[in-house]
Amino acid sequence: MHKNPAGLITILKEAGGTFLPAFFCYNKIMKVLLINGSPKGKNSNSLKLAKSFIDGVKKAAEEDGSKLELDELELASLNIGPCKGCFACWKATPGKCVIKDDMQMVIEKQISADLIVWSFPLYYFNVPGLLKNLIDRQLPMSLPFMSERSDGYGKGTHEARYNTKNIRHVLVSTCGFYTAEDNYDSVRNMFNHFLGKDNFESIFCGQGELFKIKELSSRTDVYLNSVKKAGYEYAQNGISQATREELKVLLYEKEEFERMADASWGVDKASGQKIPEDEVFTKQMAALYNKNSYKGKDRILEMVYTDLGKTYQILLGKDGSKVFTSPEYEATTRIETSFELWQKISRNEISGEEALAKQLYKVTGDFDLMMNWGKVFGKDNSQSQKPAADSNPSSSGKLLPPSMAAMLIPWISFWISVSINSKTGSLISLLLCALIPLLMRKHRLIIWDQLSLVCVAALSFTANLTGNGHLPTNAGYLVFGLFWLISCLTKEPLSAAYMKYNYGGDSALKNPLFMKPNYILSVCWGVLYLLTAVWTYFLGRAGFGIVIPIINNLVPVLMGLFTAWFSKWYPAWKARGGKS
Ligand SMILES: Cc1cc2nc3c(=O)[nH]c(=O)nc-3n(C[C@H](O)[C@H](O)[C@H](O)COP(=O)(O)O)c2cc1C
Repeated sequence: MHKNPAGLITILKEAGGTFLPAFFCYNKIMKVLLINGSPKGKNSNSLKLAKSFIDGVKKAAEEDGSKLELDELELASLNIGPCKGCFACWKATPGKCVIKDDMQMVIEKQISADLIVWSFPLYYFNVPGLLKNLIDRQLPMSLPFMSERSDGYGKGTHEARYNTKNIRHVLVSTCGFYTAEDNYDSVRNMFNHFLGKDNFESIFCGQGELFKIKELSSRTDVYLNSVKKAGYEYAQNGISQATREELKVLLYEKEEFERMADASWGVDKASGQKIPEDEVFTKQMAALYNKNSYKGKDRILEMVYTDLGKTYQILLGKDGSKVFTSPEYEATTRIETSFELWQKISRNEISGEEALAKQLYKVTGDFDLMMNWGKVFGKDNSQSQKPAADSNPSSSGKLLPPSMAAMLIPWISFWISVSINSKTGSLISLLLCALIPLLMRKHRLIIWDQLSLVCVAALSFTANLTGNGHLPTNAGYLVFGLFWLISCLTKEPLSAAYMKYNYGGDSALKNPLFMKPNYILSVCWGVLYLLTAVWTYFLGRAGFGIVIPIINNLVPVLMGLFTAWFSKWYPAWKARGGKS
């Protein structure tokens, strides 16, 4: 039984006069041959895209109950010599090449593939020599006799020696210029002649070298995701127009990309002189500056490389960044450390947060820049360039990160409304609990939101039944305080469960500069609410009930101010060399 007969008949291929499903026969093994034509082998940028595409195809195959068998050929590590032009494969040894190298094996794999993914970089507006060699060596796959093309493309052809009509082809390539547009005309023409007019799908992407820069992964990963989606759709009904539009979006704006690219060569554009490594590094970092992170005034980031005895300044302005090789301005943020450490960070041998937590560098001045490093340098550059479908997570079906409002609104409304009138107040708070999932529908609700809803609903219910608001309100303070304290026994204190999304998500949980203040603050909030329960009880009994609302509203406000101050002060203090 086919699991998905509708899926099965969407892609048909002709074989021996009958139509058979090409992809996704339930239980069928689909053979995919990935030909990596980049001289860089595994380090190829184009290969990243090709693999994402195949991931998408694989996902679709698995959903349809078939299996994908991937065979990967890395031309850079194969022995494939150039065609000698002897025509022996047409005459003396029909179908067999006289050169004894890896090409025979390649041809066998090609013939038995269902899908061939041709992955290659653009070299001089065509394929690199490695791949052109392989294409020239396809001659044994053709018959020698002259014939006419059925697709009307070009004049004259040679019929295929093997039945290769059913093989599907996808070209995946990156190029170095800012866009792929208008740069692939030679490639298209050649493959039109080689594989048949438009007998292939293609994904061509500019700015290819950016795929290897980990600091830019938040943008390049978005693109790779679109490529995966393209693979998924390709294996079903074909790549949708919406996905094609996503794939056309530039990774970065032309000027922004060209600035990054120029800075990477280590050569001064005007003089042609070689630039020292530390200056190249500083300029590249400046090129990653995201001007959307500008906050109303220019900032001067001073980088002191202690092992080299050199100081650079980067002006972070409204229109972009500028590097000064010696101090020109008063620094707003100053980072002192060895250049060697920066290199380790850029090689991913240590994370910037870990280095800071270990006090391997010292920061003085405005610490906000450090807390928003990812936004200022590169990581969130993608926002302006993200395809429309991705810019609003809720519209694309994805939920927004949890909001603390979902947890706080039920509690605050309960404490206020029940203390004013236990009967009506409890009904209002019950109603609000019921409405929270609707009001916060765009956000993910986490365990603390759910527990809060259950506890507030139970306490409101009790207040309504008993007509006594004092006890449930006070029990609420106790429960709320326990939430904070209990969360400190887990690997994610309550505040961190919400705040981590502003600091890179789960990766923030590994950052001691983020975690330590969150543990401290969660304990403070927990203790505060336990004490609130205690003083509310005793003040009520002592006849000072009138002051309770004032104290119980004022103290959290003060604690909120302390939280805002402490969460900024603590990492800055540590970065200045503070001991805890
Ligand atoms: C010899 C050579 C020729 C190149 N020619 C072009 C070109 O004509 N157009 C272009 O946009 N990029 C060109 N590039 C840049 C590559 O296409 C680009 O770096 C690509 O992302 C490399 O992909 P890979 O990592 O998969 O090998 C060239 C690079 C080299 C080394």
